[in-house]
This record gives sequence, C-alpha cells and structure tokens, in this order.
Amino acid sequence: MKRAGIAVLDFGGQYVHLIATKVRSLGVHAEIREPDDPVESFRGYRGIILSGSPALSARDEESSWSRGLLDLGVPVLGFCFGHQEIAKHAGGSVEHTRREYGAATLHVVGRSPLFEGLAAEEIVWMSHGDTVTRLAGGFEEIGYSTGGADRSRQHRNAAIASEARRHYGLQFHPEVDDTPCGRRLLENFAVGICGAARDWAVGDQVAERASALRDEIGNREVLLLASGGVDSTVAAKLFERAIGGPRLRLLHIDNGLMRKDESARVVARLTALGLGPSLRHVDASAEFLGALEGLTDPEAKRRAIGDTFVKVFEREASKLGLGDVLLGQGTIYPDTIETGGTKRADVIKTHHNRVPIIQEMMRAGKVIEPLRDLYKVEVRELGRALGLDPESIDRHPFPGPGLGIRVASERRVPEEYDEPRLRAEIAGVLTGTELSGVPLPVRSVGVKADHRSYEHPVLLTGPFPGWEPLTEIATGLTKGVRGLNRCLFEISGRLPKEARLVPATVTRRRLDLLREIDDVVMRALQRHGLTREVWQCPTVLVPVSLDDRGHELVVIRPVHSERAMTAKAAWIGEACAAEITREILEFDSVGAVAIDATSKPPATIEWE
Ligand code: XMP
Repeated sequence: MKRAGIAVLDFGGQYVHLIATKVRSLGVHAEIREPDDPVESFRGYRGIILSGSPALSARDEESSWSRGLLDLGVPVLGFCFGHQEIAKHAGGSVEHTRREYGAATLHVVGRSPLFEGLAAEEIVWMSHGDTVTRLAGGFEEIGYSTGGADRSRQHRNAAIASEARRHYGLQFHPEVDDTPCGRRLLENFAVGICGAARDWAVGDQVAERASALRDEIGNREVLLLASGGVDSTVAAKLFERAIGGPRLRLLHIDNGLMRKDESARVVARLTALGLGPSLRHVDASAEFLGALEGLTDPEAKRRAIGDTFVKVFEREASKLGLGDVLLGQGTIYPDTIETGGTKRADVIKTHHNRVPIIQEMMRAGKVIEPLRDLYKVEVRELGRALGLDPESIDRHPFPGPGLGIRVASERRVPEEYDEPRLRAEIAGVLTGTELSGVPLPVRSVGVKADHRSYEHPVLLTGPFPGWEPLTEIATGLTKGVRGLNRCLFEISGRLPKEARLVPATVTRRRLDLLREIDDVVMRALQRHGLTREVWQCPTVLVPVSLDDRGHELVVIRPVHSERAMTAKAAWIGEACAAEITREILEFDSVGAVAIDATSKPPATIEWE
C-alpha cells in the first residue's frame, strides 16, 4: 500500500527519530528523509517536518539542503533549527543568542489551527542557541515564551506561522515527552492541517518484521548476544519467530559488570521462555576487567567493553562451529543516534554496540539488528505482541556496558577545572536560597543543544527545598554557570568541607561495592512500589571524597522517561530516600549519598 504520510527531514538533531515515532503513534505514517534529497521526491507527501540540528542557522552552517521543497505548496512545520530555516527562507532574520534549555512557558497568541485545543499557556521544552529575531512579510507570531522565574522576560517568535502558505515554525521541541501538549500539536499539524490518513498500526509489525528478518538472514546462522534485558529478549523472540530452531543461537556473556546475581537470573528466565536449548553461557568477567584496567575516559571504556564482546563472540562462534554467522544484537534507536549514527548527528556517546569494530562488521554485512529503528516503548509493544510476559518486558533498561560506566573514573583533576570561578558563580545563582553548592573535580557526560558536553557536577547541601524547586534550581545552575552540566543534592546530611578527588578506575573492588549498593537501591524502590513509576535508576560510584577519609560519594539517579532521549529527574519520596541513605552509609568506603536532580538535557541519564 502506498502511504502518503509525513516526511521528516533529518538535520541531525537528537530528536529526529522521535518526531517520526510520535507521528506514527498517532496512526499516521512518517518517514525520515535526507534534507538534500531531490525536491521533486517530496511532492507526494501530505506534510513535511524540519527537525532540529547541531548546526547553527544564524551562521548558515547547513547551507546545501533542498530549500525548494518549501515552495512545493505542501504544508511545512519546523522545530528549532527547522523553525529558523523557515523564517530565514521567507526573508526573516536569525541571530545567535544566549543558549536556552529546559522547560519554558509558551503563551499562545491569536487562533492558529496549529494550536487548536491548547490552553493559553503551555509548558514546552527548549534547547537552542539561535533565535528568530525578525519575521518576513506574510508571517506572524502565534506564540512567545517566558522561561524560568523571570516571567517578565519574553522571548519573541517562539511560534510563527504563515497561514496562507501553511508554513509553521516552533522554537521549542513538541516531539519530546517534556512538551505535554506536543502530541496534540503534531496531531493538529499532521491530521488537521495536512489531512493525513490514520492508516498505520504497530500491531502489524510482528509478521512484517519477522518476514523481513527471514529474508535478510537468508540461509546463514545467527548468534545473538543476549544480555537478558528487554531489547535482546524481544529480539530473541523475533528471531525465533523468523528462523526458529537450530540456526538461532543465544550467547549470554557474564562480563562482570552485571547487577547482583543477574547472570544466573537471566539464564533462568531465558530458559523459562523456551530459549534454553539454544542458549550458551560464558563467564568472561576477568577478560572484561583486564580490558578496562586503568581507563577513565567514558568513550575508551565503552570501546574496551564493545571490543571484548566481539572477541568473546568470535571465540564462542568458532567453538560452536558456526561458519557463516551473523552477530545478532538488540540495538535500539537511541544507541544509534547518540553514537552519531546518522549523517549529521553529533556523537553524544558511542554506545557499546556501536564501537568501531562493530561498525566495521556492519559494513561487511555481518551484523543483524531487528530493533535498530525502535524506541524502548515500541520494543515493549512489539514484545507484548510476541506474547512475552510483563516480567520480561517491563524491566528497567540496563545499559550494555552495565556497571562499567557507573563506577565513575578519574585519575587526576581535569586541567580545565577552575574551582574558584565555579564556586563564585554557583554562589551567585544560589543567592536568596538556603542552599550552598560545591563544584566537583570530576566530569560527567551531558547533551546541550544537540552537542556532547563533558563537564562538572555541582553538589548542593542545605535544607531540602522540595523536589520541584530543587529541579528548577538545577536548571538555573546548569544554564547560568559555564562548565556545569549536572546538579546533585546531598541527602545524607554531610556538610562537605571540600570535595576532593580520590583517583579511581574500574576495579573489581569498586564493582563489587557498587553491585551491593545498586541492590540496596533496587530493593528499596520495589519495597516502596516505585519500580514502575521510575523508568530507570542508575546508581553511580563517584570518586569524590567530602571528608578527610577518602570515602567515595554515591549518587542515585532516578528518572522519568519514555524514550530515553529526554528525561526528568524523579523524586522517590522522603521515606525511600532516607532508607536508601541509611543502608548505603553502612558500607565502609562510602562517605555520602546524593540524588541527581538534573533533567536530560543538559545531563544524560548515565553519568558516563
Ligand atoms: P544516556 O546516558 O545517553 O542513556 O542518557 C540513554 C539510555 O541508554 C542507555 N545507555 C546505553 N545502552 N549501551 C547500551 O546498550 C550503552 O553504551 C549505553 N549508554 C547508555 C542508558 O542506560 C539509558 O537507558
């Protein structure tokens, strides 16, 4: 069936694919297209959406796309960079301004069909550095925004329209889950303005995907890396549906970076799902630890882990006597996009299943990934359609490099660490609150305006101001202080004299300690009935001491998310936080416990 849906132009923004899945979740078909595809090839679509980008519109950093598609008479909607390009193409101006991230309030002006059903004020998600400063004739402002505490400061042209041309631009990101009215906005555009049909159903996918997989595999064999997580388990069931029987083998590698008792549980679960006969289980923990020895850089750690997975895979494939074998992986879409897997996207993290050696195997046609275009919510939906039980599909996501990227590592204080400046600026932002803040001499990964950041956290201490105010303060600090991308709140009541680096890398001792602490956190979440409400909760061992004894800091990172591309820090309640803190402080080498209150962006979910 020919589907005349919505084309999404991929300018390399972090949320491009999110736009497509959100449109598809309305039942409207959406496809991702390259912006330099020939103009004529866009004629059949009901509408076109222009994504955000790491490029700057004000500096014409993306000059060669097929702008002529804006003159096809097809309705167009642009987000962030796309919004600016629409304004510019019509003759307006875009200038590089101060960066703006996080929640803002949209104030609706007039009565555009794009805003049908919206309130006069809506919360929207911003992540940009350029702004539309002047509109061309024919365009009008249909919304402005105010951000943070200062509601008197209005950001003009947050939403613009030429109703005659059916061209619309939004400075914010309606595609992310943190813009609550986003779904309605996309529906207003795709269905209301473009008149696209709702003829796309995720339920069709099992048969379609199994058959495509069968064709792709041909008469080769598959050895699937099965960590036991949601993705690899759904992939295993899909492979079973596609080729079943003896040509499918599962390899579960205990890499020493798993949760407490996890490997044994995984083997039991996969066996209960009927996958026992094709399952092979190896303990390669010593090999993984050896590969990680002395490393501190998150990218180097992921590469070491990814390379070791491939080494063990090749050895086991040869032991099994598999000849023409494909490496099966449960890779999902965020792994690809954050690794800079599309033409224009910046590398945020090279996920372990996208390291160079695997990319090389992919080019040689040796890798098969049936879920590579899906987000976690969609994988879960597919899993349900495949008949998997809730225990297998509703588990918290757990990254492939596991605890390896949660024992934060740093061997010396980073050169660019300017403690006096950070302290002074932090104190400035905290003026008027009862909190004090100390910058930490370690770095963690973040994402700002579609670019990777590797910056410092700030640790706040003082009376708990309530969760919402705390997250607002966190936003203020990461926006207002250059070099900060994360904000923690100390929940164990320890007042730091100073924050000192305790040089550390990945060692068995630290891994074993984190395994126990992680188990404490997971059991507490379960006890308090929070496992479903909290989407994921990494626990991180941070090599920073707040006292004279060199004891490390433990950070818990509960988040709400749907597709992992954005996330909100989640509060777990005072009782649960107090229990966790009490139990964690019983471990000898832990000095303090903090909770991470930063959203994504500007921080990522994992620290490294
Ligand atoms: P970040 O930290 O980028 O994480 O906000 C987004 C989601 O991806 C998971 N994650 C990984 N998963 N290999 C994986 O399979 C990796 O290298 C990796 N890094 C992060 C993370 O746990 C979260 O769910």
